[in-house]
Amino acid sequence: MCGIVGYAGWQNAKSVLLEGLKKLEYRGYDSAGMALMLSGDLKIFKGAGEICDLEDKINLDSKECSFGIGHTRWATHGRPSDENAHPHCSCCNKIAIVHNGIIENYQHLRGWLEESGHRFLSETDTEVLVHLVEHYYTGNLMESMRRALALVEGSYALLAVSSWEEGHLVCARKDSPLVIGLGEQENFIASDIPALLSHTRRVYILDDGEMAAVTSSGVKIYNMRGESVDKDIFEIGWDAVEAERGGYPHFMLKEIMEQPQAVRETLRGRLDADTGRVKLSELKFTPAEIQSIEKIHIVACGTAYHAGLVGKYILEKKLQLPVEVDLASEFRYREPLLAPRDLVVAISQSGETADTLAALRLARDKGVRVLAITNVVGSTLSREANDVLFTWAGPEIAVASTKAYLTQLVTLYLLALDFAVARERITSEESAELGRNLSFLPDKIEELLSTNSLNKMQTYAQKLARSENAFFIGRNLDFAVAMEGSLKLKEISYIHAEAHAAGELKHGTLALITEGVPVIALATQQHVLEKTISNVQEVKARDADILILTMTGNDHVEKHAHEVIYLPAINDFFTPILTAVPLQLISYYAAEIRGCSIDKPRNLAKSVTVE
Ligand code: AGP
Repeated sequence: MCGIVGYAGWQNAKSVLLEGLKKLEYRGYDSAGMALMLSGDLKIFKGAGEICDLEDKINLDSKECSFGIGHTRWATHGRPSDENAHPHCSCCNKIAIVHNGIIENYQHLRGWLEESGHRFLSETDTEVLVHLVEHYYTGNLMESMRRALALVEGSYALLAVSSWEEGHLVCARKDSPLVIGLGEQENFIASDIPALLSHTRRVYILDDGEMAAVTSSGVKIYNMRGESVDKDIFEIGWDAVEAERGGYPHFMLKEIMEQPQAVRETLRGRLDADTGRVKLSELKFTPAEIQSIEKIHIVACGTAYHAGLVGKYILEKKLQLPVEVDLASEFRYREPLLAPRDLVVAISQSGETADTLAALRLARDKGVRVLAITNVVGSTLSREANDVLFTWAGPEIAVASTKAYLTQLVTLYLLALDFAVARERITSEESAELGRNLSFLPDKIEELLSTNSLNKMQTYAQKLARSENAFFIGRNLDFAVAMEGSLKLKEISYIHAEAHAAGELKHGTLALITEGVPVIALATQQHVLEKTISNVQEVKARDADILILTMTGNDHVEKHAHEVIYLPAINDFFTPILTAVPLQLISYYAAEIRGCSIDKPRNLAKSVTVE
């Protein structure tokens, strides 16, 4: 996944494009480049390294340039290098393109193009696109792109310029996001909204199979047959500052601290303020349709998958329905047994994760209804699902997902309560009582973000940061959250971490528990608390260093642990939304102590829009 930007207008294109690329760095940052139109010629600046390195390369008199394209890359085909950086140019150097996606049949196309005399300079899949466009170019960039894309298999958000058509940006999208920002005598193209927020809040969101011709004075949108397409202008609610760091050292800490508000926003309008009754008015299910559901399949990746694991427990408990949770990358290739009355719930912060989108499309192809839970309005997932429940977490920039995870959990709780009433599994009064517990959550999360609490996490992280291994254990809902705690720690601090069902340790993993090994035990589920504590004693007997997370009032566990973090009192059905917060914080502080690149961990990117 990469970030692309384009500009045509009256401003200094170099500055506009660099600013946009910096806002897209979370999509990938191993190399960057820009093509600027200078005195009728395309000037290319690109190379391995981050966007700040690119800025140093562009030594030109910027007033001359008000038109160009840019790219920040996360390598998929071809290692990070100067020649593999985008933009890629045609043999004649008159056409340049930037691309986000994967061209699956690029080897075949490259062979044919090389036989036709085209010279390739990189090992990327993308470069075939610019040579294809050049091959078909007869004076109309849009037409040549359309003919080129007819041969292409794969995904693309593609943006091209030519010195033969100064001032014209041509773009196309299939399976990779692309938005067009509308300004006054200037227009913008970008992979994602934060890149253009400081200039405009009015955008077109391109759909798959759409192309656009953009100049400083106009935007024309077409389908792949060349027919004009009318689209509504989308007004963005986010402020530019929201997508900035807001004074925190890292986006991740900012987003952890935003969680109370993110949960409030996600609950807003969905919980009756007086009764606590849940109402998900955005869903188009009839009571009969909800009652007819026979099985739920949750599909997601990474942290969203871990939210799904919590979803399994709460949906099965409240709906008395079988719920399966699948990694989307597995689901899409295991020929899942789907029946017409099943419901697929696809969870994705970005709404652009390739595997999750593929799982959605597989379900839709089988005629199964798909409900999306996503954080990005206008995302592909949100537009291809039958129903959407948005998490209102606001832009999540840090690669490590925090507030999106918490709001995914909140949304799953809302769904469980709403459907449970429709299926007459609980009464409206019981739903309202449980709903009121949800409404208490933002304040309780704030307690876990108090200065005293943050200091306690920092102190524990001092010890954790010196370890190279760590184990998270729990039972039931706690095991589901332990999975997320483990991912958080390893993806930002690079400490090897594993999560295990507490009852499973003695079946093998206990062999790894030796003196001083950190074991973080989640013990919030009252009905299995003593079982979990006996598992803690197993690791204590091996001299592990033990941190227990439990509910206020469970003081008796202190004798089994070196440290205990007490969570504010709440019905233990809802504890995952609280337990996750200390786990995010100890991971963040451990990574900070270890000097890791917290917002942009090595090898990772925020939105995995390729397989
Ligand atoms: C989360 O901390 C990870 N960065 C990653 O696992 C992420 O959750 C996963 O890639 C899914 O992304 P999505 O929610 O945008 O689909």
